[in-house]
Parts: sequence; structure tokens; C-alpha cells
Amino acid sequence: MAARTLYTAGITGVGMSFPEKKLTNADLEKMVDTNAEWIVERTGIKERRIAEKGIGASFHGAKAAEHALEHAGLTPLDVDLIIVPTVTPDMLFPATACLIQDMLGAKNAWGYDLEAACSGFIFALQNARAQIETGHVRRVLVIGTEIMSSILDWEDRNTCILFGDGAGAVVVERIDESRGGILDAIHHIDGSGAKYLHMTGGGSLNPPTLETVEKNMHYVYQEGRDVYKFAVRGMAGITKEIVQKNGFTGQDVDLFVPHQANIRIIQAAQRRVGLEDSQVAVTIDRFGNTTAASIPSALRVSYEEGRLKEGSLVVLCAFGAGFTWGATLLRWTAP
Ligand code: UT7
Repeated sequence: MAARTLYTAGITGVGMSFPEKKLTNADLEKMVDTNAEWIVERTGIKERRIAEKGIGASFHGAKAAEHALEHAGLTPLDVDLIIVPTVTPDMLFPATACLIQDMLGAKNAWGYDLEAACSGFIFALQNARAQIETGHVRRVLVIGTEIMSSILDWEDRNTCILFGDGAGAVVVERIDESRGGILDAIHHIDGSGAKYLHMTGGGSLNPPTLETVEKNMHYVYQEGRDVYKFAVRGMAGITKEIVQKNGFTGQDVDLFVPHQANIRIIQAAQRRVGLEDSQVAVTIDRFGNTTAASIPSALRVSYEEGRLKEGSLVVLCAFGAGFTWGATLLRWTAP
């Protein structure tokens, strides 16, 4: 059943913020039993950014938000709602959205965190869209921000080579319907996938104890090969579905912005949907997998490369822990 909507929502600003410090594959060779060629061939990652100790997710989240607001020509006081998708909040509570609200001085905003791992940005964007379409708010900041380095086992080559730190943010606003904006979105979860990708320590089931620390339960655990198969199937399927459902073909897509987990996953999904390289945004080479930050930061990079113009047809797509997966179809509406 189609939802009743009063207004139209569109992205009107995009920003990002990354730590200065780069960790290259050559650096990783000195830390774990790996080699630079394997990492590039199997993942597409050449380097990733790592935050200094003492920096939480709020830090780069606030900077990315300021960047996005500047792009939209707005001030923090214009913001009604802040949604922060993240798996690495500064702390379990209060929400990182509250911390960022204070850092920005966004006194008129309410907000909350949202946890859908690598699909967090897509899910949060839908929250923003729904709040705007129903007329509850006019302007929303969606801020994907992660300090993945804080939950990685730096002795586990299966995971520590994959992730990076950073943040990406968008401003979503009520816009004129004729501009298009966010046209459609599809979302799924399948909790039977939890066993393949998780961090079990630190929550209510396994609160922190000496034992949970000794058992490495505060680190990312991933069955890479299984996740890979589900990710290709999920991302290709949902991208095809959202394009066809709206009467478009692959050729109509100006830019496909997939979650950046593995270049081979991106290329497999791209092939199945029939997209050329020129239609696909890739940033995994420089940032690795930044979880909820990967899509908004890839949007900012694409914008800076001149690949996003008023009216460009854009498909966002992600797959992550949960399992969670989703896609968004939109017409670009930022200046
Ligand atoms: O973002 C959320 C969702 N996450 C994803 O989408 C990630 C999905 N999975 C993947 O991207 C890939 O499965 C990985 C990049 C994690 C792993 O790539 P793979 O091609 O699936 O490798 P594999 O795990 O099947 O391992 C192949 C070989 C193994 O050696 P043997 O058993 O064939 O002798 C591994 O031990 O590569 C070895 N290996 C490594 N070698 C060098 C595993 N990790 C490394 C490493 N360096 N870092």
C-alpha cells in the first residue's frame, strides 16, 4: 500500500570528514600476516583512514554535518532532526545524535541514533524522508559516522584490513515536488544472518567482563565468504528491483552509489544490473569499508568529481550485518 504523503523530500547538501592519518596495505603487512597485493586483489582497498586515540564518532560526524550544512546554505539552527546511523557510537548512551547536536549548537533539533550496520545510512535516509513527507519536520541531518578502528582486532587479518574511520552527512529538506528528490526506497532485514557478522560483547547479553575481553568479544566477527554471497545477491536483487519497479532501465541510471565493502561485490552487483563503470561510484580504494559512512561520503566524492547534477538519477544500495539491506532511488537536488 502506498503511503500518503503531503510533501516531497530531497538531498540539498552533502559533506564528509575523514581523519588525516592513512593506514596503507604496506603498513598492515608489518602488523599481520598479509600482503598488499592480496588486499588490493581481493577487496580493492589500497588505504584507509584511522582516527587518533581519543576521537569518537561524534567528532567527524559533527564536521561532516557542518560541511553538508554549508553546502545546503543552512546553519545548525535550521535543523529540525538529526539521525545518526552508526555501529560505533561514542558510548552506549546518550545517543551520538545528542552529542553532535550539542557540538553543532543545533538547538532546535531533536534526534536519535539508528543501528542497521552498513545499511544504516539507507535506513536513516528513509526515516528522514518519512518525517518530511508527513510534514512533521522540514530539515533533517543524516550523519553516518564510524570509528571502526575501535572495534577491530588488529591481530585478525580476516577483518582488520577491511575497515576504516570517517563520516559522511547529508541534509534532507522539503523540496518542490517537480524536482523529484527521493522517489522510492526498499528495505529488508533477515536476522538469521546475525551469526555471520556481529560483535557480541558489550551489550546486555554479554556485558563487559574480563572474560568477554579475553574471548575477543568486543571485536568485529565476520564469516567473510558467507557474507560475500549474501551481499552480492542482496545488492544486485534490490538494485534491479527498485530500478524496474519505477519504470527505468540500467541505462537510465546516472550514478549507482553502492556501499563500499569490497570492489568485487560492487562489480558483481554492477554486472548483474548491467551498469558500466562510468555509472558507478567507487571510493573503497582510499577509505576501505566505513560502514554507515560509506554511501554519504561516496556521494560527497561523486559531487566533487562533478558526477551529480540537478535531476541526475541516483541509486543507493547497501548490505550489512543483521542481515540488513536496502536501496534508495532519487533525483539529485543539491546545488
Ligand atoms: O560491509 C558489511 C558486509 N561485509 C561484506 O560485504 C564483506 C564480505 N566478504 C568479503 O568481502 C570477502 O569475503 C573478504 C574480503 C572478507 C575475504 O575475501 P575472500 O576472497 O572471500 O577470501 P577468503 O576468506 O575465502 O580467503 C581466501 C584465502 C584463505 O586462504 P586459503 O584457505 O585459501 O589458504 C585465507 O586464509 O585468503 C586468505 N586470507 C588472507 N590472505 C592474506 C584471508 N585474509 C587474508 C589477508 N591476507 N588479509
